[in-house]
Amino acid sequence: MSIVGEEEEDRELLVKCPTCGRVSEGCEHISGEDLAALRRLIRAGVSVYENEEAAEEEELFEPSEDESKGSELYQILQPRFTLDDVVLTERTREAIEDALVELRHKWLMFEAWGLSDVIRKGKGLSLLFAGPPGTGKTMTAEALAHAMGKPLMVVNYAHLENMWVGETEKNIERVFHNAWSEDAVLFFDEADAVFHRRGQTAAPWANRDVNVLLTRLEDFPGMVILATNLTKALDRALDRRIDIPVEFEMPDAAMRGEIYRKLMPRLAPLSGDVDFRELARKHRLSGGHILNVIRQAMRYAARRDGIRRIVTMEDLRAAAKREVDKAQVLNRNHLEEEGEGGPGRRVAYHG
Ligand SMILES: Nc1ncnc2c1ncn2[C@@H]1O[C@H](COP(=O)(O)OP(=O)(O)OP(=O)(O)O)[C@@H](O)[C@H]1O
Ligand SMILES: [Mg+2]
Repeated sequence: MSIVGEEEEDRELLVKCPTCGRVSEGCEHISGEDLAALRRLIRAGVSVYENEEAAEEEELFEPSEDESKGSELYQILQPRFTLDDVVLTERTREAIEDALVELRHKWLMFEAWGLSDVIRKGKGLSLLFAGPPGTGKTMTAEALAHAMGKPLMVVNYAHLENMWVGETEKNIERVFHNAWSEDAVLFFDEADAVFHRRGQTAAPWANRDVNVLLTRLEDFPGMVILATNLTKALDRALDRRIDIPVEFEMPDAAMRGEIYRKLMPRLAPLSGDVDFRELARKHRLSGGHILNVIRQAMRYAARRDGIRRIVTMEDLRAAAKREVDKAQVLNRNHLEEEGEGGPGRRVAYHG
């Protein structure tokens, strides 16, 4: 029997009968049930070997189960950014500061002032970072972990979910358990992928698993950060489990100027006419866009030789214009594909 096609969640695996050659449906040789079981096994990653020797040979090259599981389910990052690197509005910075105050004074608040007597959930702290793409949510999660002197554990959803009953739950438990034992800040980036509203038809996660996640979140004694640009898609039950909602806004002109100054590397040679204020005033771009502008301006400069190989205001202007055009093209395609009320990121942002 040959397996044609790719191993993808949302695509049927084509199965061909070696006797009658029928593809994909049951035949007199293979029942529909057998086909379904076969597809399930293949998706779960079963391997078939001729003999024991062949199986052992392959195992030599594979990491031990626990090691591979851990590295698939999450990634542990040592934070590079600090809170000084990120440019935030006063309101956003206040909310971040609240989180740090509570962590520093946990004992005072929970024990000395008796907060643990009135709070049902664990002594952990959960933050929701909400805002448009490229406004610094992921960067700030790193910076916050840095300020706490802890690593950041970034959850990998694709590997969390497992088709076998109970396995997703085990994976979720493993993530929370390991975050605690590694003393890491747990980070669910693009959290809408998992904490979607229960009952939504297009929802990618089973309700049962969302419930498990919500319960673990409530009991976790450490810090959890969730980031999203689709606040409306999140399960309402998440609201009361979030201790501090943090809103990220598009930067204003003054902030954009500061972002240009912070993101332009010190080693980059600049011509005397470079004026970040002008760029900031002219183009409404997010921090993520500004990073792209700087990189593109460097590409323009790197094409030249000798003394002309420096980043000029003209390079930056051209790069900024290109970035604005790029954003418009993406927006246009996006609207064409999904319609104005579609579930796309830009349209559906209600932060
Ligand atoms: N407020 C900011 N201050 C300084 N740099 C920023 C800021 N926002 C974005 N940047 C720059 O843009 C890059 C991308 O930002 P980041 O990944 O944190 O955005 P995000 O809000 O997580 O976006 P998304 O919603 O697409 O995940 C950062 O690594 C940083 O270089
Ligand atoms: Mg992000």
